[in-house]
Order: sequence, then structure tokens, then C-alpha cells
Amino acid sequence: MRDGFGRKIDYLRISVTDRCNFRCQYCMSENMTFMPKSDLLTLEEITLIAERFIGHGVKKIRLTGGEPLVRRDMSDVIQRLGRKVESGELEELTLTTNGSLLSEYADHLAAHNMHRINVSMDTLDPYKFAEITRGAKIDQVLTGIAAARRVGIQVKINMVAVRNFNQDCLLPMAEFCADHGHDLTVIETMPLGDVGADRTFEHIPAEEFIAPLVERYSVSPIAHKSAGPARYMAVEPLGLRLGLITPLSNNFCDDCNRLRLTTDGKIFMCLGHNAHVDLRAAVRNEGIEAVDRLLQKALKLKPLRHDFNAQLDGSADILERHMNVTGG
Ligand code: 5AD
Ligand code: SF4
Repeated sequence: MRDGFGRKIDYLRISVTDRCNFRCQYCMSENMTFMPKSDLLTLEEITLIAERFIGHGVKKIRLTGGEPLVRRDMSDVIQRLGRKVESGELEELTLTTNGSLLSEYADHLAAHNMHRINVSMDTLDPYKFAEITRGAKIDQVLTGIAAARRVGIQVKINMVAVRNFNQDCLLPMAEFCADHGHDLTVIETMPLGDVGADRTFEHIPAEEFIAPLVERYSVSPIAHKSAGPARYMAVEPLGLRLGLITPLSNNFCDDCNRLRLTTDGKIFMCLGHNAHVDLRAAVRNEGIEAVDRLLQKALKLKPLRHDFNAQLDGSADILERHMNVTGG
């Protein structure tokens, strides 16, 4: 698949639920209203659509949310998509999770060809962790990560950089990741959805955020590439691989290879734009073949780049969509 600008599109991210058992401050408001269940794609629909996309050349799939593992019966989806990895039709099946249910799921993930996952964790300090997530317990996440490692799943930690909050947590986090063999990725906050806080206050460029690390260790760019938009650095002598996701301070749209399937069955071609096509109604009315036609339409809709900077400085409207609907 190619978009209107000639970019190869082969990476699908699926948000399987907008629900989450955490309420991270940059992601959700305290009293989120979630979609009515009837708006969600069924797990069968998700799987059928994903398989159809694979037929069109999608090589990598990431399951996200919300928290994907809070959706009941996710095991079936994982099992079916895992089979596509076994058959070679899919290169990789991955997951972005908050880690809280990993202890329960680790065996199942490993058994179905999930070899790498991303776990979101913004600090190792139990009090700060409870503050940013509005009440979650870090122990549960740490136990989950250990369970995943035990069955051979590679873990990358996603740390969202929040100004005046977790910069002092970076060194302990980097050392923890190096000790346990996890990669670490620092993510700039993106202005998505009304979360009841002032976004300019939260935002800190990743380069500025990693200053304590640069002061203490040698940090140098490396060529490593993953399917996502991170740039990578080696942190020595820690032996840590550090990724930076910098949608605001350093645009990466030129080689974007992604499309997103939302919880309610829409294809969004960019996290930062509202242009989308609605698969749910079409698939329910016309059958799964509707995907073929709408996918072509969606590819033409993919914008050249996002507008997060304009949204942050107020010259463009903040998108109403929250991260948990479109998926990370
Ligand atoms: N900006 C940046 N990252 C976000 N995440 C959730 N909301 C935002 C936001 N507004 C992160 C989560 C998770 C990943 C899927 O996206 O922490 O690591
Ligand atoms: Fe849940 Fe992830 Fe959003 Fe936190 S960032 S509330 S863990 S979906």
C-alpha cells in the first residue's frame, strides 16, 4: 500500500478498547465517559478487518487502547493474529500496555508469537506513579514486566516526559532499564483531547528532558530503526538503548508508515488529523469486502504531516479525540 505521497504503509495500530483501568493525567480526564459498548467493533470484526489489512500488505500490527488487556476475551484476538506471524503473513505482532494485567497474560502472549511489547511507565516512584495515573499501583506493573521477561518477551518502557513532574525520575528509570535489559523511549506529550489541564505547561521537548542523562553519561545517536517513529541513542557505559519520540520538537512524518483502526471502527491515517473513513457501518452493511474500497480511500486521505505545534500554540483547534480512542 502506498499513500498519496508515495509513502509505503505497512504498519497497523489497532485500539481494541477506549477503556483503561488507569487515568493518566496527560491522556484522560478524571471522569472519562467511554463509548457505549454497541459502538465498539466486536472482537470478531477486529480480527476480520485486521486479516483483510494483512491481505493488503500490512506487515506489523500493534494492539493498543486504552488498555488492550482490559477487554474481555482478548486472548482470542491475540491467538488468531499470532497465527499470522507463524504463517509468515505478518512480520510482527506487538502490544502497548500499561502492564497492570501482564502477570495474567504473559504466558498467553508468548505462546502466540508476541515477542516484544511496550509498557507505559512514567516513573518508578510509587507515589508519583499513583499521582500521574490517578491511583494505580506500580508494584502490579513491575510484577507484570517481570512475568513478561520470564517468558522471554522483550520489554520497552515508554516514559512520557511531563514538565515539572518526572525529569528527576529519568536517571533511576534509565538505570532500571539498563539493569533489566529493557529499551527506554521518552515520548513528548501530544495535545490530544481535553484532559482538564494546560498542555503548554506539561510539554517539555525530549532533548531538554534528557539533559540529566546527557550530563551523567555519554549519549550518542545510533542507526537502529524500529517500525515506529523513534530516533535512537546509545547511553554508555550504561549499555542502554534510548529512543526519543519527538512529534513536536522534531517532526518525523516524512517516513510515516502507519495507519490506525479505532475502537469504533474508523481508519485514521494520522494521530494529529481528523480525516478518517468509517469502516464499521460499511462492514456491517456490505460485508468485509467493504474494507478494500475504503482502504484505498483512506490512503488518499493520509496527510503529509501533523499540526501539533499549531495546536499547542493555539493557532489550531485541539483535537477532540483522546489518545485512548485512536491508540498510541
Ligand atoms: N501524549 C503523549 N503520549 C501519550 N500517551 C497517552 N496520551 C498521550 C499524550 N497525550 C502515551 C502513553 C503510552 C502511549 C500509548 O502513549 O503513555 O505510553
Ligand atoms: Fe490508560 Fe495508557 Fe491512557 Fe494511562 S496513557 S490512562 S495507561 S490508556
